Amino acid sequence: MNMQASALAHPNIAFIKYWGLEDEARRIPANGSISMNIGPLATETTVTCDPAIKADTLTLNGKPVSGLALARVQQFMDRIRRLAGSNLHARITSENNFPAGAGLASSASGFAALALAGTAALGLDLPEQELSALARYGSGSACRSIPGGFVEWLTDPLSGETYAHSIAPADHWDLADCIAILSEAHKPIGSEAGMRRAASSPLQEGRVLDADRRLAACREAILERDFAALAAVTELDSNLMHAVMMTSEPPLYYWQPASLEIMFAVRSWQAEGMQVTFTLDAGPNVHVITIRTLMGEVVRRLRQFPAVLDVLSALPAGPARLLTQDSPS
Ligand code: DP6
Repeated sequence: MNMQASALAHPNIAFIKYWGLEDEARRIPANGSISMNIGPLATETTVTCDPAIKADTLTLNGKPVSGLALARVQQFMDRIRRLAGSNLHARITSENNFPAGAGLASSASGFAALALAGTAALGLDLPEQELSALARYGSGSACRSIPGGFVEWLTDPLSGETYAHSIAPADHWDLADCIAILSEAHKPIGSEAGMRRAASSPLQEGRVLDADRRLAACREAILERDFAALAAVTELDSNLMHAVMMTSEPPLYYWQPASLEIMFAVRSWQAEGMQVTFTLDAGPNVHVITIRTLMGEVVRRLRQFPAVLDVLSALPAGPARLLTQDSPS
């Protein structure tokens, strides 16, 4: 019996960041987060389960993957097998339509697509909330790439259940994300290792204690389509996360001089009256968030920085979706 499913998921950019875990084994984040799915950037993953396959294999953008990256995917597949009560192994192929090594995290879209394709290939049809809860075990931010549009990852304080849900669909607000790529290098310290250090910063406690206030401000800014309010809380939240990173032991510096140069430029564009704001993840690339009508102008301006290797432009995108599913014949 041969079962195959393909799924597509978009990456997401967080306005309120996830940085630090309260419970590492259950991957419960120290604070909630809010993000926007971004397309046309996407990962497409096909999972083929076959009794003839003895161990899961992974091909990413046409190249076989081994080592830790493969082990992480195999552990995730183990979790799906336990849920499905199956012992079938899988051949997994995954393609990103965005440049490899552009410093863009593909773990969110990758594990969201794998959660959907993997469960479907093993005959499971999980509701969105359970699929999101599952995806977080691959990568925390992957749970936010399951629902569509503008998404919040929350934890129920009573049950401890943690998952993401949509707060507004992709067409709710014509925002754009212009991503200034400054480095194609792989992150020196990935999110998982970096996050373990978060608690060593004396600033993390304050950042987490104030998170509910920022989440409420961000949620409201999105629902009201209030760009100025979104910009204020987005920049604050990015700066708070990077302050924690820079004050962890040992410290983590993800910014490059050109990252700061672009942040300063964005502030001067704001002074001109442009609707622009910035946010940075665990890397030097700057996501310049703007409104769709300004996207061309922002991309043009970002390309003028000598350190900018490329600029990608993205728009709010929908949920993870199943592309094909072949049932047992
Ligand atoms: C800085 O989801 O990549 O992008 O759970 O260890 O896989 P793991 O981390 P990951 O962390 C993302 C961190 C961030 C902020 C965010 O997207 O919220």
